[in-house]
Amino acid sequence: MKMKKWLSIALTATMAVSALGAVPAAADDAADYSDKKVGVCIYQFADNFMTLFREELAKYLVEQGFSEDNITIQDGKNDINEQANQIDAFIADGVDALIINLVDPSNAPTITDKVVEAGIPLVYINREPEESEEARWEENGWAVTYVGCDARQSGTYQGEIIADLGMDTVDLNGNGKIDYVMVMGDPANSDAQNRTEYSIKALEDAELEVNPLRDTQIGNWQQEEGNRIVTNDLAQFADDLEVVFCNNDAMALGALEAIKAAGRTVGEDIFLVGVDALDEAIDDVIDGTMTGTVFNNHFAQADGAVDAAIAFLNGEEQDVQQYCDYVKLTQENAEEIKALLQ
Ligand code: BGC
Repeated sequence: MKMKKWLSIALTATMAVSALGAVPAAADDAADYSDKKVGVCIYQFADNFMTLFREELAKYLVEQGFSEDNITIQDGKNDINEQANQIDAFIADGVDALIINLVDPSNAPTITDKVVEAGIPLVYINREPEESEEARWEENGWAVTYVGCDARQSGTYQGEIIADLGMDTVDLNGNGKIDYVMVMGDPANSDAQNRTEYSIKALEDAELEVNPLRDTQIGNWQQEEGNRIVTNDLAQFADDLEVVFCNNDAMALGALEAIKAAGRTVGEDIFLVGVDALDEAIDDVIDGTMTGTVFNNHFAQADGAVDAAIAFLNGEEQDVQQYCDYVKLTQENAEEIKALLQ
């Protein structure tokens, strides 16, 4: 069987079998799901990472035997009401499966109730509902699951990328502390919460003293916001700013523009980490203009979500939480991962 691209990436990068828990491997010969209607809700099309994710979802659904005509992907435009209407319309249309990237994860209970009531299998992606909500699916034996990555791992990897450089390298002002700023994604999103917490925890676990130069600021996953926030930080903290942590690459790319504009040089007088491994960010890591990033495996997540929907269509039971691995990406393995992603 041809190894899936995402699995070979995980294998090469970690030299360990990284599997999506209970997600069954897709069969070589795709079954015929061409009469099955699939509804996909994306929180917002204007999101670099979710665009990659969405493209892979569409591609893999067709590869698995779904018909393009029966796949509908909706843009929630980051609007809770818009998304609720889209879900109602999918239910009214009698779709056979729903894949949902929530605008607001705290809406999961209401949405789950509606979808379960309509007897439609449901796969949540990217924005993980609360654990208490997942417990409810399990207790009731509902055909509902979450397929994604454990964001704590990505935060830990970000912190480790900085910790691995060593205090002597990072502590440019010699105060014995890592002076940093945090640029956070959407605070309602567990990816943002966990990356913010676990990146710093990894530094502390490595017994490095940390010093936040200010409170965490919200960049909402957006490049322009990353740029605006870090432009201000550089003006305010100047050479005391040693590390910029961004919850994703879009914001890190914005931060990088700010760093360049301020005449600073990543790797020499400042360090910068993101998450996602967008093409542009990988090139920056190769060039040394970004210290590192973390590959947010959209292949594994999209394929895993489709596999989970198929499993439900086939009446299989599965875990309510299905995680895949992130991959730490630094100058050492950036070329290798780039080649695998092409
Ligand atoms: C990604 C972000 C993206 C967000 C959307 C995160 O996992 O790292 O780039 O904006 O998901 O919910």
